[in-house]
Amino acid sequence: MKRINITVNGKAVSASVEPRMQLADFLRESLNLTGTHLGCEHGVCGACTLLVDGTPIRSCITLAVACEGARVTTVEGLDEDLIAGELRAAFSREHALQCGYCTPGMLISARDTVMRMPDANERDIRVAMSGNLCRCTGYVGIVRAIQSVITERKAKGLSSPPSPRAEFGPAGSGRARPTAVGAVAAAPAAARAARRPGPAGAADRAPEARRVAEPGVGKPQTTLHESFTVDYPRAKVWAFFGRLGDVATCLPGTSLLGTPTDEHVETRIRIKVGPIVSEFDGAADVVRDASSFSGVIRGSAHDARSRSATRGEIQYVLIEDENGAATRVEVDVGFTLTGPLAQFSRSSIVHDIAWRMTDAFARNLRARLNRGNGSARADSTAGASISEINAAPLILSVIWNRIKTFFRSLLGR
Ligand code: FES
Ligand code: FES
Repeated sequence: MKRINITVNGKAVSASVEPRMQLADFLRESLNLTGTHLGCEHGVCGACTLLVDGTPIRSCITLAVACEGARVTTVEGLDEDLIAGELRAAFSREHALQCGYCTPGMLISARDTVMRMPDANERDIRVAMSGNLCRCTGYVGIVRAIQSVITERKAKGLSSPPSPRAEFGPAGSGRARPTAVGAVAAAPAAARAARRPGPAGAADRAPEARRVAEPGVGKPQTTLHESFTVDYPRAKVWAFFGRLGDVATCLPGTSLLGTPTDEHVETRIRIKVGPIVSEFDGAADVVRDASSFSGVIRGSAHDARSRSATRGEIQYVLIEDENGAATRVEVDVGFTLTGPLAQFSRSSIVHDIAWRMTDAFARNLRARLNRGNGSARADSTAGASISEINAAPLILSVIWNRIKTFFRSLLGR
């Protein structure tokens, strides 16, 4: 994490952020400024446009840490702005929006156009606004609205304040210092490992398990840490973790494809969000180190329907608890998701969902261990009966919890 100090809509903000966090995510998820919309997340559509030191930028491809010391203005910060007010009225008068998704970014770019180009004609406006895409309106109303503001200001002899924008190019405050991103990102995992007691601490973990914690190796987009405790001795849990097929089917929504070995498993994971069902088919391999009771599972999977793919690693370490009567399972997950479903890996909601999935995994694991010495085949069959992850209730319950937290903090409880 890195601490940044920026001014957002006139208010000083100091916060710790992941070095890889984009400015749009920071504003939306940490400051609840959801007026900044995210469309393509590739710097193409312009939905996320906002002002950094007065210059329009794509906040989906601008790192929050690059804005150290900068003045950030979102659409919420333009409530009292004269030109933005004129544009809002013109957009509404000229029917320049339908769904409104592109509108915050459009207003920011339109304001910049009005300020920079007091004599702009229709063609100039179309060129100036070509970095903002709208899928609803056909642009006619948008161009007419901007043109009408320019014409009215000209007729009234109103001059726009000078644009702070001197040049085109990447924007940022220019005050952020370069940082060893990998080293910062790796710090929490290293700190956690250092806190682990006894022979299962970081120094004693399997070389394979240590390798993925080192900066610059693998570099997953999303990393998570979870832990849970089961009321069984470590030797018993370790033996269970040796049966890769059983471990895989403790994950909700996971079924086996073919017969697993103790080192290799092929699986299908079904995830359902409303009417959309994704089926990730993939394979995973495990490397275990009995001396440190740790292991690393490495795999990849692909969903043909959504054209999304993922690859990742799960490191686990088993730690004796309650004088050997229980076992704490510490899990580090790192994964990269590509394709249309990648948008879900960015949100912090994924952390809440991961926690719930870990909880479900822990419950399944306890149930399997409760069955005593059932065979691997019997356990695998039982796990396969969990037919799919229904992500919609998970997401709804996450959102509901957030609403409750928000109102509690509002009421000071
Ligand atoms: Fe940033 Fe599309 S979301 S440009
Ligand atoms: Fe719907 Fe522009 S009004 S995308």
